[in-house]
Amino acid sequence: MSVTSPHPTTGVQLKPLWIGDVCVDPPILQAPMAGFTNFAFRQIVREFGGAGLQATEMVSARSFVWLDEHEAEHPDRLWGVQEEPRPLAVQMWDNDPETLARVGQCLAREFRVSVVDINFGCPVKQVTQKAHSGSYLLRWPDRVGQIVERVVKACAPTPVTAKIRLGCTRDTVNAIDVAQAVEAAGAAALTVHGRTAQDFFKGSADWDRIAQIKPHLARIPLIGNGDLDSAEKVVAAFRRYPVDGVMIARASLGKPWLFAQAAAALRGEVIPPDPPLEEQRAIMLKHFALVLERFGPERGTMLMRKYAACYASGLPGARHFRGAISNAQSPEDFYRIVEELFPKVLSLQS
Ligand SMILES: Cc1cc2nc3c(=O)[nH]c(=O)nc-3n(C[C@H](O)[C@H](O)[C@H](O)COP(=O)(O)O)c2cc1C
Repeated sequence: MSVTSPHPTTGVQLKPLWIGDVCVDPPILQAPMAGFTNFAFRQIVREFGGAGLQATEMVSARSFVWLDEHEAEHPDRLWGVQEEPRPLAVQMWDNDPETLARVGQCLAREFRVSVVDINFGCPVKQVTQKAHSGSYLLRWPDRVGQIVERVVKACAPTPVTAKIRLGCTRDTVNAIDVAQAVEAAGAAALTVHGRTAQDFFKGSADWDRIAQIKPHLARIPLIGNGDLDSAEKVVAAFRRYPVDGVMIARASLGKPWLFAQAAAALRGEVIPPDPPLEEQRAIMLKHFALVLERFGPERGTMLMRKYAACYASGLPGARHFRGAISNAQSPEDFYRIVEELFPKVLSLQS
């Protein structure tokens, strides 16, 4: 992708997005989502294409160190990371620079990941109040900077990035200060989810506030995140806001083809339609097969129930399907419910 004038149909002037020496093309990133963006999900997304950089779920750096010291197996959250195609980002969280540096270095040197990302956005109590990590750290841009600096040094030349929210509360929005600290510390990119930690997922992401950060960054790319749930919205985000990339999370869970649609739209091509519902069902079952392979029948079925609900989301009959699938205890249950109810969802739509 070369620097050009605005595309005649999209109105977007696309520039290549570089995170260190990693070219993110197209500049559409698959967000980290705990409990969801494991290898199976990433693989399904990868097959459709369109995500320039994919990310794992967040990994607890402290647990990683503990497992390492006890010579235990790597956590499920690193499933696939060693072998799968690049570029791939692994996200980690903690508040201790040394622990993060140690894990970051291992991810960079042993796992050879493309990007090491640090989470400064997680709003859940277990991470904030209990572990004083994630978005809890946004109160102190200096501390964020110290962490990033230490991790950058440990991981070099692998690029290190940070993912933040706008601030801890609506009264203490300080994303510009945090962004500057992140850049000064040597990070290679910054992703901003346009909500505060207090917001959790309430209201809408504030893209104006994301945009306000841009003039305060001298060197690193800014990636905007929040509420992008269609290819059209991705194009509009690039057209309206001075972001270098965008990141998509929730909307992709039931539509792993969304990245491919958004990528086509950015190229000014006709947006491919959602796959026919029969194919959506087949994609879900393929996803299930990957999950079963790793987690076995019982855990695999439990895990897949939430993905199945996402796949059905928005389709007529989804509630009925969701209710039934949430009780599936075994692969046999799962297949039976899909057979009985997913097709009904399909036929209702036509
Ligand atoms: C179930 C779930 C898990 C998430 N886990 C993470 C995570 O591990 N790390 C992170 O930085 N953000 C996490 N997020 C936040 C998303 O990456 C993203 O910032 C947020 O959902 C807003 O984007 P969206 O509107 O496209 O969903 C999570 C979000 C959800 C819904």
